[in-house]
Amino acid sequence: MTDWDKLDASCKECKKCPLCETRENVVFGVGDREAEVMLIGEAPGESEDKKGEPFVGRAGKLLDDMLAIIGLDRSIVYITNIVKCRPPGNRDPLNTEKDACFDWLRRQTELIAPKITVCLGRISAASLIDEDFKITQAHGRWFDKEGVKFTALYHPAALLRDPRRRPETFDDLKEILRMIREICPKTASRLRLG
Ligand code: URA
Repeated sequence: MTDWDKLDASCKECKKCPLCETRENVVFGVGDREAEVMLIGEAPGESEDKKGEPFVGRAGKLLDDMLAIIGLDRSIVYITNIVKCRPPGNRDPLNTEKDACFDWLRRQTELIAPKITVCLGRISAASLIDEDFKITQAHGRWFDKEGVKFTALYHPAALLRDPRRRPETFDDLKEILRMIREICPKTASRLRLG
């Protein structure tokens, strides 16, 4: 068993917080385990809980479309969430749940060693970039943390609710593409741009 398989298997048995009692599936992550680009959302919703895969509902469809704009897809990047189990009723995850879950993400990040981390939405950016992160002001900016470039996009669910944010997100995606070309040669060589 590889380190990844061991981590995946033990995460799927996790009982570190009460979300284990209401979940149908642990949503560990999907994509290339050697990706240079990692995308991190907030927590699974109903569709993700049912399927055991991140971003498979309506917001996930939009995320796929956003990735396609810059030639990416799920097989080229790695996608996961801050919290691996669905908070009931899709409420925001509690701090206790985020804290209990954080070690899984830390270990995933150690194994992947991404060059770029893209936070999807404020909650992810507040956990990973700055606890006071203001998504309306700071989306699309770069933050350096121990040699890794971090940025944040509006959460795809927020873009479904408020399509007026989409032009800004288009610019942010182009900026991510520029950075991929600059520092992620393996990813740049796999881009599917028409
Ligand atoms: N929203 C998230 O933040 N993550 C998912 O996996 C699905 C919806």
